[in-house]
Amino acid sequence: MKKVEIHPDAVERIKKFTVTDNQLGFGKYVCPAMIVCAYDKGEWQKIELIPYGPLAIDPCAKVLHYGQEIFEGMKVFRHPDDSIHMFRPEMNARRFNVSAKRMAMPAIPEELFLEACDVISAYCKNAVPKRLGESLYLRPFMIATEVGMGIKPAKQFLFVIVASPSGSYFSGDSVKVYIEREDIRCAPGGVGFAKTGANYAASLNSYEKTLKLGCDQTMWLDAHEHKYIEEMSGMNFFAVMDGVLHTPKLTDTILDGVTRRSIMDIARGENIEVVESKLSIDDILKASEEGRCTEAFVCGTAAVIAPIASFLDKDGKTYRVKDPQGKIGMSLREKLVGMQAGREDAPKGWLHKVRNVDI
Ligand code: COI
Repeated sequence: MKKVEIHPDAVERIKKFTVTDNQLGFGKYVCPAMIVCAYDKGEWQKIELIPYGPLAIDPCAKVLHYGQEIFEGMKVFRHPDDSIHMFRPEMNARRFNVSAKRMAMPAIPEELFLEACDVISAYCKNAVPKRLGESLYLRPFMIATEVGMGIKPAKQFLFVIVASPSGSYFSGDSVKVYIEREDIRCAPGGVGFAKTGANYAASLNSYEKTLKLGCDQTMWLDAHEHKYIEEMSGMNFFAVMDGVLHTPKLTDTILDGVTRRSIMDIARGENIEVVESKLSIDDILKASEEGRCTEAFVCGTAAVIAPIASFLDKDGKTYRVKDPQGKIGMSLREKLVGMQAGREDAPKGWLHKVRNVDI
């Protein structure tokens, strides 16, 4: 397997890197080292840990015009004994390649992806926060660097990983959701299931509307009937109705979230019934009015689990969720965060211990 070439100047910069802010927020700070690996002539080239800095990219690189790009979001945690652990990184490695296939990009061997994540985490170990709920967020991504205006798949790419010591994604407690009944995020046969910038770009126009209306997140519905819940702009959705945990069944328009899967596993382990189905927004709103939808929450790697306080519909009507603090959601969150931080037993294979390096 390829070994990561470590640049001493990257290590020197990491040694001097400290973050003292106790309100880390999300993505505010970035470690001064990054992984880079180019793909050319049908092969991945040397893989390096270099100082963080701007990428030299040709203005005619295809990513800049045609959006041939994919990314991942994953987290690294400090345990009470100071060891460092990645959470289910193989799930991200696999999904990265699912996204790559859809976007006509080369697969990156899983061992190479995992080795690169391990190395950046190992060298940035001092940047892995100590407080519960905080982590080192890794953002692996791949862009098409081939130069040319022709609309055809590129043959040259760059794989990069940057690392950001992060805290909570949301500043408040519970989120207000705006139901988007007009725009769509993606359609069947499209790229909705792939973690590619296009899906997030498609959500931004509606995000502005969402914020203006005093909400925090946009809820996306299916493209045909504008009736079935898909996901939020960067998170999956769950609702608790009559004590049962409901989430939209995966389709090719929904991202297969690692946190979504972990929550379902944890809930089943706690004997909570979990149902994956076509989930109609009108049923959820009716159940909220009747007090049967006792709680709802969004989840994702960055967001973890954040309870939903209310839904705002197109006609301006607000539907409040009975328990805006979400007792079940919060207990699942506590369990998940505890496992990630090494304070609760996690299922076998969920934590990958990062090697120790002297820096
Ligand atoms: C993540 O949860 O890691 C994502 O990529 C979603 C984005 C909203 C930050």
